[in-house]
Amino acid sequence: MLLKASKFIRIYEISRPKEGNFLRAVNFPFSTIVDINRFVRLYIEVFSTSLFNREKDLDKKFRRMLEAMSSEYDFRWVEETPKDFSGSFFYTATYSDSQIADLVETLILNGVRARILLALKPQGKWLCSLAIASDREILHLLKTHFSSVRRINERTFRKAANGSLINPKLLKRLTLQKMPGVAGLPVLDLKIPVRFTFEPKNALKVGKIIHFTTGKETVDAFLPVQRINQHVAILATTGAGKTNLCRYLVIELHRKGIPCLIFDWKRDYGYLAALIDAELYDFRENLFTFNPLKPAGDPAMWAKELANIMAEVISGSAYGSGAFSVYVKLIDELYRERGIYDGSRNYPTVFDLLEKLENLSRQKLSERERNWVASALKLFRSLAVGKTREAFSVREGVSIAGLLERTVIIELDALGDPVAKAFFISVLLQKVRNFRLSRPERDELRHVIVIEEAQNVLKQGSEASSIITATYREIRSLCEGIIAITQMPSEFSKDALANTNTFFVMRLVHGEDKKVVRDILGLSSEQLRILEHLERVLHS
Ligand SMILES: Nc1ncnc2c1ncn2[C@@H]1O[C@H](COP(=O)(O)OP(=O)(O)OP(=O)(O)O)[C@@H](O)[C@H]1O
Ligand SMILES: [Mg+2]
Repeated sequence: MLLKASKFIRIYEISRPKEGNFLRAVNFPFSTIVDINRFVRLYIEVFSTSLFNREKDLDKKFRRMLEAMSSEYDFRWVEETPKDFSGSFFYTATYSDSQIADLVETLILNGVRARILLALKPQGKWLCSLAIASDREILHLLKTHFSSVRRINERTFRKAANGSLINPKLLKRLTLQKMPGVAGLPVLDLKIPVRFTFEPKNALKVGKIIHFTTGKETVDAFLPVQRINQHVAILATTGAGKTNLCRYLVIELHRKGIPCLIFDWKRDYGYLAALIDAELYDFRENLFTFNPLKPAGDPAMWAKELANIMAEVISGSAYGSGAFSVYVKLIDELYRERGIYDGSRNYPTVFDLLEKLENLSRQKLSERERNWVASALKLFRSLAVGKTREAFSVREGVSIAGLLERTVIIELDALGDPVAKAFFISVLLQKVRNFRLSRPERDELRHVIVIEEAQNVLKQGSEASSIITATYREIRSLCEGIIAITQMPSEFSKDALANTNTFFVMRLVHGEDKKVVRDILGLSSEQLRILEHLERVLHS
């Protein structure tokens, strides 16, 4: 019996609908239920007898098929039967793909709770039947989308829900791999806006979606947690509320068990420490002890990575430049003297490197070399005073593994100049990357890094060869998400922007900054004008 051997599954987190279209995958021989209640739930009913000849091992076969489908179309699913629904009922047998998509959007925007059953029905030519239940009288609304809508009673709706609108015989024939005449059938091409398909429990509520004409708040906007490992950027002019939004995201992530590492430039996050039991470090009292020269991974590799970061951050040179050669030579010397390559843990510190740089500066150098040495000297000398000396004098420092286990705020203000801060952030970021690389876990978001004033670390310019930008790109698959915050989007690395998935754009004023945002989000000039006048409204 056909109906007995059917199963309901709910599909969620469709993260990469192929060609923006998911339901192409679930046409035959499934019937589909689209449940709309603030956001969309998508159920499909799978008829087993039409798929698999014999009833033997049905569960296993179901599972195997769904696993194959979900990996191809990148969604998740759970077995779940849609809840009962009562209200007004309608039926139509005419549809077009975009009409259904528009209808879904209209229902959401109007806050209508509804259930749409999509089922195939042969009627001379192939058609898709829609049975619609709604908590409101929506005939007028339906008529704007479909020409022939009629009212039906609850019993007919239930029949449709039970699959009896579908001719079982035909359904069975349709499950053949290829049938003459089937190829040209209209397949459902319903685009459900991805943002509506997420479950609040797997997502952070980030605001309200506002109807663009009525200005009415409609549904909640969600940011799926797992999308954060594709990185987030918060772009807005100063005072627009970037930090405020980010603090909120940190708290919500904490609630969902995802800890954050926050690089705090202006002591904006300190109060979170008590609120969510985060660890608060600084370079004044609760020192963040750190040794950039302790290799993260293979010492020879680390010598190069560190020298590259120094070249980039300290002397603004490109990857593998002359500055790099000077720095890597000194680090290599230190590692040799200390037996680091042979496994010794007697790591040198930045002050040992400072000494080397001082010796070098007394030798005969070219003008350019002198500049590279001078800029590194300037940085390390600035670290050699007061409490920062203590923080950077350690051999081991705070453990990276421990650092990623809970929310940690590092107040950077005592580090002084922006170069020192950028150097510290870049080295720590690289260490986190190397640590993650050495672990087996991939892809699933486990931890988030917040970088305020991100334009200082991910700089606009020669990013193509930048080690820091490469790390930003790469760390996405290493269970780490980055929230980059900047009030100067035009100074922020283009490459990093291109590798960011979610943008929060608030008020922007400067032409160059607006241009950047227009280009990444594809905004119209009208939308661009709105940006200037935004107060504290979110756009994702
Ligand atoms: N959603 C909001 N509702 C009301 N007030 C807000 C909101 N977000 C921020 N504010 C207030 O606006 C001010 C600036 O916010 P915030 O510090 O988050 O801005 P910012 O963009 O990080 O600024 P800066 O560029 O200076 O770092 C603060 O006084 C904050 O309390
Ligand atoms: Mg701020």
